[in-house]
Amino acid sequence: MTDAMLEKARANAAKAGVTNVEFRKGHIEALPVDDASVDAIISNCVINLSPEKDRVYREAHRVLRPGGRLMISDIVLERALPERVLESIDAYIGCVGGASLRAAYFEIIEKAGFREVRVLREARFAQAMDFDDPRLKELMERLDISLDEAKSYGDAVTSVHVFARK
Ligand SMILES: C[S@@+](CC[C@H](N)C(=O)[O-])C[C@H]1O[C@@H](n2cnc3c(N)ncnc32)[C@H](O)[C@@H]1O
Repeated sequence: MTDAMLEKARANAAKAGVTNVEFRKGHIEALPVDDASVDAIISNCVINLSPEKDRVYREAHRVLRPGGRLMISDIVLERALPERVLESIDAYIGCVGGASLRAAYFEIIEKAGFREVRVLREARFAQAMDFDDPRLKELMERLDISLDEAKSYGDAVTSVHVFARK
């Protein structure tokens, strides 16, 4: 997170006349939030970027009040992807390269102490991908991935909406 992002968020809140929000700068591995002080946590496509997902979920558990809820949208892998994809910066910022295998991901959430862990919705990339999109074609070229190979990964990457409770 950059200072420019914070400034923009604060400016947008002011423009919308919203007075009951506060923006704090921090990392998800060390939230600038007191213990047991939060009712609900939401996050969209950030946790896959963290190399320390166990820390992230322990932090989420620490700051939630007992009974507090977590609603996360994230990416998990159904099977391992080739090294050249995992090592690609493009795949990482595209929220794929840093994603964990599904079983390992849910083990992390359970180990952090969450209960009622469940997937409310999920979609495989194959359903969402437009293989005619020129941006995707350019990425495939950079990664030296053929169309057939890219299509074969379509069922290996899943977007999940995860609910859990402290
Ligand atoms: C894919 S974007 C998602 C942004 C937003 N949640 C949305 O839905 O539009 C990922 C964001 O996570 C931030 N990010 C990445 N790693 C982070 C970390 N360890 N702690 C906090 N933010 C992080 C990045 O700066 C980026 O803004």
